[in-house]
Amino acid sequence: MRAMTKGTLALLITGMTENWSPARWRERFIRVCSDRPVALLPADPVAPAAVRYAAVWKPQPGALAAFPNLAAIFNLGAGVDALIADASLPDVPVVRVADADLTGRMSEYVAMHVLMHHRRQRYLDRCQRERAWAPQAQPAASAVRVGIMGLGVLGADAAQVLARLGFKVAGWSRSRKAVPGIAAYAGDAELAAFLERTDILVCLLPLTPATKGILNRRTFSQLARDGALGGPVVINAGRGGLQVEADLVAALDDGTLAAASLDVFETEPLPAASPLWSHPKVTISPHNAADTDPDAISVYVAEEIARHERGEPLRNLVDRRLGY
Ligand code: NDP
Ligand code: OXD
Repeated sequence: MRAMTKGTLALLITGMTENWSPARWRERFIRVCSDRPVALLPADPVAPAAVRYAAVWKPQPGALAAFPNLAAIFNLGAGVDALIADASLPDVPVVRVADADLTGRMSEYVAMHVLMHHRRQRYLDRCQRERAWAPQAQPAASAVRVGIMGLGVLGADAAQVLARLGFKVAGWSRSRKAVPGIAAYAGDAELAAFLERTDILVCLLPLTPATKGILNRRTFSQLARDGALGGPVVINAGRGGLQVEADLVAALDDGTLAAASLDVFETEPLPAASPLWSHPKVTISPHNAADTDPDAISVYVAEEIARHERGEPLRNLVDRRLGY
């Protein structure tokens, strides 16, 4: 057998779902990184000094500080809030996932939920249960204004998919973006104008100190009230920390919001006692709007490592100062 001289890729993966099965990730990485040792920690023995790269999902705080020769950390998801909360994280480049597979999955989720509210699918489900033949007038997509908070990799793609379906789409980001066919709003100064023109608010922001709790009563009360859907709708697939759940429930109860689709929660898994589970205006999914697929993302990481070793710059780097 050929001796492997390349630095070890360490895998540190904590996950509660089938998709995050550490053994599954190890098998994929061994396949795509066949020219270097791959060690799944803490199961596999490894000399800390041999570790050159780490591919991680929610590693134990402090765990990455054990590797003195680390060149880069690959976060196996798009959101890095959990990773960079670790104050002992080594000062090496952090790469996040920005990949067509993940992006496509998120755009599927966003399109499905926007259409579900637009086409009143929850109402039709109720009608079916009650054997009621009771169609309601259906507005055109062009009569519905969707606003996407976060016009980054995921938001920009979802915006274009929705625009293609005929919705009037705008996006809000920190710096102004130019996405063909999408009205661009930027910064805190333009948030109110963005919300005032929005019937369906889709949140694809990262969780940072600046965005924490942004989906709150004040935000909900600024959304358009003259829309074709009879009240504003919120869809959050960013992070649970972006939403104030007590405000969300109150806004749904008093009619400030007509409905919500939630993929992420303040506490995950969503506690059994949460009023969101049984709220008639809420549609819940278990943080799987866009899974990180082991097949696609192991290849993505292997390609980024190969680029790095050819002396090319790493892509999709996290700006730790901004938190995303
Ligand atoms: P990007 O970094 O590409 O985009 C983030 C966007 O948010 C950018 O447009 C950025 O503005 C904007 N933004 C950040 N901070 C602010 C702020 N303070 N005010 C206004 N806009 C702001 O991230 P992705 O699109 O790849 O991912 C977004 C998030 O989606 C992830 O961080 C993660 O939390 C979540 N996610 C959820 C998944 C799920 O299954 N539920 C799966 C994958 C991701 P600017 O363009 O100016 O930088
Ligand atoms: C991600 C996620 O950030 O799965 O990629 O939430």
